[in-house]
Amino acid sequence: MGCGAGADTIPLQSLVGPFGRVVGVDYDRAMLSRARVGADVADGGEHLLHVCSEAMNLPLESDMFDSCRSERLFQHLTHPELVIGEMLRVTKPGGHVVVLDTDHGTWSVDTPYKDIERRITRFKAEHFGNNGYAGRQLYRLFRQTGLKDLSCEIVSGYFTDYELARFMFRLAWSVRKNLLCGATVWRLPRAEIIFFVRKVWSWWWERNRKQRQIC
Ligand SMILES: C[S@@+](CC[C@H](N)C(=O)[O-])C[C@H]1O[C@@H](n2cnc3c(N)ncnc32)[C@H](O)[C@@H]1O
Repeated sequence: MGCGAGADTIPLQSLVGPFGRVVGVDYDRAMLSRARVGADVADGGEHLLHVCSEAMNLPLESDMFDSCRSERLFQHLTHPELVIGEMLRVTKPGGHVVVLDTDHGTWSVDTPYKDIERRITRFKAEHFGNNGYAGRQLYRLFRQTGLKDLSCEIVSGYFTDYELARFMFRLAWSVRKNLLCGATVWRLPRAEIIFFVRKVWSWWWERNRKQRQIC
């Protein structure tokens, strides 16, 4: 579910064996066409299909799959309970449903500016997709379905490279938006201020350069 460009579905094909079938679902046609190209390259044939659909309303029969999974889908959902309902519907009784998702409210940065770091984290969680707090809600949502055999695993990751963290968490974007919203005004980390000023300067320089060329 929410298979995107096939990062999940194509490797799964090797797990289901020659008589198994993998069906990826996504509502983004551009993503699906990339997934289909990947499936062709992997020689998936009719064992590896990609279907265009809204996750809340699958055009698939009930009890069709041995297992169903999603990764980083729930952070985009406004009605996760409906999607869980669909996942349970299409999975056979006794099958497995696996959901992996992010919780943007839990990321942290080792910085002396703890107050700013907490505010940026909160801002990011509240402005990411439709639900930046998806991860922490999964256990409750699954419990509410009445399912009994549930397990929950928390996995953390860490970055030691500032530039990589900036890219992955769109840190400069968060700081700029924070500034605009007035959430963070004083005592920004110096590196972020320098980065921001440089960006504005290069944008202004580039804009003037283009105008000079047009003249
Ligand atoms: C962050 S991507 C993850 C893709 C893939 N699971 C992966 O791990 O590489 C989230 C995907 O979910 C899809 N998606 C989001 N909301 C959806 C919905 N309501 N119905 C179907 N697909 C949805 C998006 O189009 C996107 O391809």
